[in-house]
Amino acid sequence: MKLIAANWKMNKTTQETKDYLEKFLGLVEGIDGVDILICPPFTSLCVAWEILKDSKVKLGAQNCHYEQKGAFTGEISLDMLKDLGVSYVIVGHSERRWIFGETDELINKKIIACLEKGIRPILCVGEKIEDREAGLTLKVIESQLKLALSGLEDVSDKIDVAYEPVWAIGSGNPAMPEDAQLVHSYIKELLGKVRVLYGGSVNPKNASDFLCMPDVDGLLVGGASLDPLSFAQIVKASCADKA
Ligand code: PGA
Repeated sequence: MKLIAANWKMNKTTQETKDYLEKFLGLVEGIDGVDILICPPFTSLCVAWEILKDSKVKLGAQNCHYEQKGAFTGEISLDMLKDLGVSYVIVGHSERRWIFGETDELINKKIIACLEKGIRPILCVGEKIEDREAGLTLKVIESQLKLALSGLEDVSDKIDVAYEPVWAIGSGNPAMPEDAQLVHSYIKELLGKVRVLYGGSVNPKNASDFLCMPDVDGLLVGGASLDPLSFAQIVKASCADKA
């Protein structure tokens, strides 16, 4: 099943979250055959769960800490997230890597912790523009995957991977669907039958161009997920593609 995921990043108060989700659930009512995930900021998880718990829309977090508890000021554990109805966590998003200095080693610890706790990680990988221009895209992806999954046996059915070229995120300049396809098929060559999402400037107009690629198994959507109508259109694109 395809996965269409919203990454709200640092957007929406609790009231804005409620207004969005009430509208969104109406817009996706009756839609089947696709996994839908909303990842609001930590502060909105509680109100979001109240609204989503009886629906088919899943709740995710944008980050987590790998330790169970203790002296880690400002961090959130997986038990705390589970307690709020979270079943997915985005791990290693490029903004975490490049703004907050997350290393592959830290990302590896988070993936291991998610798997131990039964939370499904969405592992984000993606090259910077200079890597792409130097022809290093596949090397970078391979290295990020190897390091993030180091020490783990075959986890292809327990995680999702999001291919998000750094230069395409929030830039209005998405990858060419054919270029994304090449990277997605390479990821599956390395990991086996894993679900691979594309992310980076996805919108209602281009969503189906990605979804019709054979190895694009879903989308991770930032900016265009902030409006319920626009995100619902992207969800619907995944169903149109199947029909
Ligand atoms: P974007 O963000 O859709 O705004 O490019 C995607 C992401 O960062 O996950």
